Amino acid sequence: MIKEFYKIESVNGELNLPGDKSISHRAVMFSAMAKGISRIENLSDGDDVNSTIFCFEKLGVEVERVGKSAIVNGKGFKNFSKPAVPLDAGNSGTTARLISGFLAAQNFESTVIGDQSLSKRPMARVIQPLRLMGAKFETNQQETLPLKILSGANLNPINYNLPVASAQVKSAILIAALHCDEISSVRDTFFTRDHTERMLGLKVSNDSNSKLIYSSKEFYPRAQEYFVPSDISTASFFIVLALLLKSSELKIKNVGLNPSRIGILKVLKEMGADIKSENERESSNEPIGDIVVKSSQLKNIEIDEQIIPNIIDEIPILSIAGLFAEGNFKISNAKELRTKESDRIKSLCFNFRMLGLNVDEEESGFSVSGEITNRNPVFESFDDHRIAMAFSILSLLLKDGGKINKFECVSISNPNFISQLKQING
Ligand code: S3P
Repeated sequence: MIKEFYKIESVNGELNLPGDKSISHRAVMFSAMAKGISRIENLSDGDDVNSTIFCFEKLGVEVERVGKSAIVNGKGFKNFSKPAVPLDAGNSGTTARLISGFLAAQNFESTVIGDQSLSKRPMARVIQPLRLMGAKFETNQQETLPLKILSGANLNPINYNLPVASAQVKSAILIAALHCDEISSVRDTFFTRDHTERMLGLKVSNDSNSKLIYSSKEFYPRAQEYFVPSDISTASFFIVLALLLKSSELKIKNVGLNPSRIGILKVLKEMGADIKSENERESSNEPIGDIVVKSSQLKNIEIDEQIIPNIIDEIPILSIAGLFAEGNFKISNAKELRTKESDRIKSLCFNFRMLGLNVDEEESGFSVSGEITNRNPVFESFDDHRIAMAFSILSLLLKDGGKINKFECVSISNPNFISQLKQING
């Protein structure tokens, strides 16, 4: 489906956005693993989290969705049933990678599959450490999905140094380790998002260069109530829109303000953005608050390598902010962008070239300069929700608007993106 956007003048008002995708996946998984009833409030309504629910239903877990909440009747330690069909993770890397850690410890065989995009994304990064723990897999030469996980593994604990900045890999190992009596540890030098450790209450020791996270059976999840904060990654599309339009002021309520996720706010503030957080508090062991954002004049800055893992999902929309900021936008040291729902370096460069801009594409980043010359752009989403939403925001800022091809993929994280835009466009 091609979606057309026209220029708008300003946005104002208040928004309540869906629950954070990363936290929602984990809330469903940990509720499914715990014995008994858990309740999850403000669960993400995106297709990705539905893929996680679907997989656990196939493993015998009952999940009832009531509006924005879900009630999960969890199975408890190793009480799951062998799935009769392959477990379809759809487009969701978090589902495929985290569930692999869980399945590696079950005493039945299972297969994880995914859509075309997910079937190209690297799984070796989770297969390798799980094999070191004793898990047995059958896969193709490239070690991509489908992934067959053979039964009967009694996993051994592991001490693992994370070789890649991936919270999904870290979490897959920590989840597998929940099935071992003895303690495992994962060293994370990248300070990736820490929802798994917070939600499981894992033991963590910090030094200035790394974090060491411990996991074992002692931390196996218990049934509980979760409140999922609204998704900072989803909020960032609306934040950038309000910053770049004139006479705009937006309040986004109950947004997750976890330090491992708010790099986007830090970078935008350094660029000159007027963003404030208020009503800050804790909910389900996650910091949360309301974000107030006002129209601002932005200037491009040098983006530090250290902050890349913290802003990895927001780089598409950050590059749109950079396009309208003084100076040229440049991102480096972000090779991981090539392993996302699309090769995001390629997708972003393609769409910027579509506008007639000069684009310098490198292996781990790109820079953009020049003037927009194409007044009738048709952007490609590459079936990537964050690319579709980033260029929708850009289209709302262009004099003659713009179109997005294959727009429907926004439902991966935010099926109600359009109605939220309508709500704030006075
Ligand atoms: C996620 C981790 C990140 C992120 C993804 C969600 C998670 O992926 O890009 O959207 O929930 O753990 P990587 O672990 O591949 O960096």
